Amino acid sequence: MRHKPKSHRKLALFGASVAIGALALSGCGNQKGQGNAEADSGSSGDGDVTIALLLPESKTTRYESLDKPNFEKYVAEANPDAKVEYRNANQDATQQQQQFEAAVTEGVDAIVLDPVDASAVSSALSKAQAKKIPVISYDRFFEGADYYTSFDNKKIGNLQGQAVLDGLEDEGTDPTSGPVWMVNGDPKDPNAADFKAGAEETLEDAGVDIAASHDTLDWNPDDARQWVEGQLQGDGEEPIAIYAANDGTAGGVIAAVNKAKVDTVITGQDAEVDGLQNILKGDQYATIYKSIPPQAEFAANAAVALAAGEDVDGGTTYKDTPTDFVEAEVVTKDTVKDIVGDQIKAEDICTGSVKELCDDAGVK
Ligand code: GAL
Repeated sequence: MRHKPKSHRKLALFGASVAIGALALSGCGNQKGQGNAEADSGSSGDGDVTIALLLPESKTTRYESLDKPNFEKYVAEANPDAKVEYRNANQDATQQQQQFEAAVTEGVDAIVLDPVDASAVSSALSKAQAKKIPVISYDRFFEGADYYTSFDNKKIGNLQGQAVLDGLEDEGTDPTSGPVWMVNGDPKDPNAADFKAGAEETLEDAGVDIAASHDTLDWNPDDARQWVEGQLQGDGEEPIAIYAANDGTAGGVIAAVNKAKVDTVITGQDAEVDGLQNILKGDQYATIYKSIPPQAEFAANAAVALAAGEDVDGGTTYKDTPTDFVEAEVVTKDTVKDIVGDQIKAEDICTGSVKELCDDAGVK
């Protein structure tokens, strides 16, 4: 559902902070509980805006350490009077539905949702739409949002599949010479399906035998570890590579293959500290670096604009939803040094025995 703009002024999301801030302070604030209804002429116009940020879990470090603080920062830049109400669902879809409905009942001015279970949002979404509260789909897509920002997740899967091929090539292994296993993400997460589809496409195009595939419930590293341990105890051929959909599941895979003393190419995603340390140790071949600040900035500017009753157009559309995608990149041992900066700090990675590995890899 698109909100009828008060003006047809399109806000190019980057660099619109000042415009949005001025707009929000100029009497375009919303009546509480009316979400994005036409503000009446008497509205306070005090920029009194409340935006709910609902994130899925806290095991993957990005949400608490990157998504939340960056979102709050960019909302404050776009509208200093706006308030962010934050909730983390701790991977519990029921709890997140309650958080979503509470925000609707409160009558917040916009909701930014990264769903634990994208198939379970329609009921609360309908209630938000009935109150004309704009909803943004953050990182994980769901139908009916007013705006979506993420990474091109199928393309990330392609990058991960290519990383498997590159890792095999680096060690001189023919990618068709043995089985490859896939440890995918949580089936409730639409991104996991896209990662899986992209990786399968790239691996199958290269003639790879995907001999076994597992969907990791709740992205739980222990679930990944137990599945791989079970597979290795079977009498099947050892894998030449194991695709892991993120660094958390890669950690579970690494624990299993190290216990069984099996040497295999392993991928990941999120450039988490553990993942980057595993890459420097040689246990993991690659991860995917996703710069979170731009994603959070897109969402923050869109939320402030929609809360102010503005129409928001993304750089593209995805399933008929205005969308902005952020680029992602593969990181291997040779390029860890290139992504260390403010989002990822060398002092967090280069601890204990990894310190020497950082020196060798030029990470500082
Ligand atoms: C995905 C997200 C990944 C990773 C994963 C685990 O939806 O795109 O970056 O965080 O969830 O939570």
